[in-house]
Amino acid sequence: MTTYAEQLTAMMAKRNWSQGDVAQKIGMSHATISAFISGNYAGNVEKLTGKIINLINRENKKDGMTCVSTGFVMTETAKQMLFVSDIARDDGDISVICGGAGLGKTSFLMHYARENPGSILIETDPSFTARAMLEGLCRKLSLDVKGNMHVLTEAVIKKLQNSGRVLLVDEAELLPYRALEVIRRIHDKTRIGVVLVGLERLVTNLKGRRGEFLQLYSRVGCCLKIGNELPADDIRAIAGQLIDGDDDDLMATLYEKSGGNARRLSKLLRGAIRMVETNNKPVSTTIVREFAKYLID
Ligand SMILES: Nc1ncnc2c1ncn2[C@@H]1O[C@H](COP(=O)(O)OP(=O)(O)OP(=O)(O)O)[C@@H](O)[C@H]1O
Ligand SMILES: [Mg+2]
Repeated sequence: MTTYAEQLTAMMAKRNWSQGDVAQKIGMSHATISAFISGNYAGNVEKLTGKIINLINRENKKDGMTCVSTGFVMTETAKQMLFVSDIARDDGDISVICGGAGLGKTSFLMHYARENPGSILIETDPSFTARAMLEGLCRKLSLDVKGNMHVLTEAVIKKLQNSGRVLLVDEAELLPYRALEVIRRIHDKTRIGVVLVGLERLVTNLKGRRGEFLQLYSRVGCCLKIGNELPADDIRAIAGQLIDGDDDDLMATLYEKSGGNARRLSKLLRGAIRMVETNNKPVSTTIVREFAKYLID
């Protein structure tokens, strides 16, 4: 994955811009741009990243490329996810985050993994077995072990003991019970923090349909339910990276048409920006409504 600093450096080379040129274009100081590129910017990284993304998107548009991307925005919902993840990490606890599709769970986890180099991010898929998960963990921990599940589990436990690391599991609702049990054992033996993230049925999976897995569920410290839609301010914060976040009508329309869903919002924004690309006008409520007709309900 290319970082925004890398994208900016590539854009600077293409346009023959100096750091001073970039600074002037986005109204920041030369030192700020230099720090951003070297990954040492100590100020409000999100705000600065937003300005840089806007610049890159604008320039790409000039080249006829529709390349609209948003950086990660620390929304109120993301702040709550951060809170329970930090508790898991700092207290060696299990935290659960669950909520509807397209609300920013994976985006948050990827951000958290970037910010916490000690974290181990597991991306689950529907074919995941306990063994596949353990093998994936061994690979991430650079463990070259062969053997049965017990051997793999013990190797992982040995490696993670007193490591202060945190295990992040995305789409954890897809994990079979045995895999969840392996995670519980690793947690019990190493006390590393675990963050399980998934759709709402994850909570049912953790309890067992008839409450038969309560031993596992009782280890969960915090459970954050983010529901099925984001609050209007979150939608405004994400949209504000690409378009004028102070336009209340536009923001209200985006909230209505996105249904509070970040994935739908990003499709809406991409489509609306594409629609206005040719006439170089800003995105308006009419354009958003126009493009929303193309989105499936
Ligand atoms: N905090 C955020 N900042 C910027 N963009 C975001 C943020 N959260 C979500 N998005 C946008 O919404 C899209 C969908 O988010 P994401 O894939 O993280 O949702 P999810 O909750 O993991 O969904 P699913 O349950 O289907 O996996 C992202 O690709 C991104 O464009
Ligand atoms: Mg996801």
